[in-house]
Amino acid sequence: MFMLGSEGDHYCSKKTDDICGDVCGQESSRALSMSRLRCILRGLDLKTYIFLFVLVPTCFFGIYVHGQKISYFLRPLWESPPKPFHDITHYYQENVTMENLCKLHGWGIREYPRRVFDAVLFSNELDILTLRWKELYPYITEFVLLESNSTFTGLPKPLVFASNRDKFKFVEPRLTYGTIGGRFRRGENPFVEEAYQRVALDQLLKIAGITDDDLLIMSDVDEIPSRHTINLLRWCDDIPPILHLRLKNYLYSFEFLVDSNSWRASVHRYQTGKTRYAHYRQTDDILADAGWHCSFCFRHISEFIFKMKAYSHFDRVRFSHYLNPERVQKVICKGADLFDMLPEEYTFKEIIGKLGPIPHSYSAVHLPSYLLENAKKYKFLLPGNCFRERESG
Ligand SMILES: *[C@@H]1O[C@H](CO)[C@@H](O)[C@H](O)[C@H]1NC(C)=O
Ligand SMILES: *[C@@H]1O[C@H](CO)[C@@H](O)[C@H](O)[C@H]1NC(C)=O
Repeated sequence: MFMLGSEGDHYCSKKTDDICGDVCGQESSRALSMSRLRCILRGLDLKTYIFLFVLVPTCFFGIYVHGQKISYFLRPLWESPPKPFHDITHYYQENVTMENLCKLHGWGIREYPRRVFDAVLFSNELDILTLRWKELYPYITEFVLLESNSTFTGLPKPLVFASNRDKFKFVEPRLTYGTIGGRFRRGENPFVEEAYQRVALDQLLKIAGITDDDLLIMSDVDEIPSRHTINLLRWCDDIPPILHLRLKNYLYSFEFLVDSNSWRASVHRYQTGKTRYAHYRQTDDILADAGWHCSFCFRHISEFIFKMKAYSHFDRVRFSHYLNPERVQKVICKGADLFDMLPEEYTFKEIIGKLGPIPHSYSAVHLPSYLLENAKKYKFLLPGNCFRERESG
């Protein structure tokens, strides 16, 4: 209120000429009180009313709707970026021998390759799981998959892998599959259920027969290391004991390349009693250009909606209309954000650089080979095919 009053006075005295000049300037006694009032109404009170009845509610409404955006935008003020990774240059070309590739990285070559275990917690992403396993198949000793009948947010879910297991006959001889019952604690932080499932995955890995110095890939299903990356790491000696993989970050399909900053996936040289399955930062070393992270890369609209609800960040679904299928379809085609959020970055430069929808990409070069060989079946993942099927198949 203090602000308003002083601003009003200021207005009247400074802009004397144009708006209430004829009134404020006059010292004539006759119409003094009337014109004063009119002046106040016109100059001060009109502004005040506009302020009170339009701007203030708009502000409150804006904060209500965009509060999360405002706090994300101001994030660089209250949070400093994490320590940068130590990026390891990644060398690869089909025709270069493994010996030379290892040497380029400063590593030696082994006489025989390490065994490789790929372990994932599965929710419902069947298409991406197929691409992942087909990509990695030539170099994986054992695929380990754990699924729960609970989402991380504590919603019951069917055992989707169990009922589709016949579609994965190609891995059957190398598959260790496990299930775990959800704890269904209401209102609990989703990260607790997630941690609980990861501990169970450690047990399943032991059952699968993992031993010291075997390679273990720790990543979500949709974080797919490229085949040649895993081949390099299994053949080269002296690779770091833990190595993060820098993956190209895609959203909805390979049409929307966000950046190349996905870093959560990691490869470990297994150490009994020490290695624990984790999905957070575990070391500074990261290998460049090591694969793809395709988030929300689903065939059906219903899967998007399921994931939005099952996601560890369910608090992001602030309004129920976010889950409206028509809205979801529009957002996908635009390359916009499903949760209507700002980019999660640590500097204003990066936030501003990423505002607005993700630009369309017209490149389908260096994608998982199974995708291109079955382009018709996985059309929805390729550029130019944003329309999704409505009901779940
Ligand atoms: C790569 O190797 C293949 C066979 O090993 C050979 O036929 C081909 O010419 C090579 N390509 C290049 C570009 O060197
Ligand atoms: C989840 O699985 C556990 C263990 O198999 C079972 O006891 C429980 O009834 C299941 N719950 C639901 C909701 O399916």
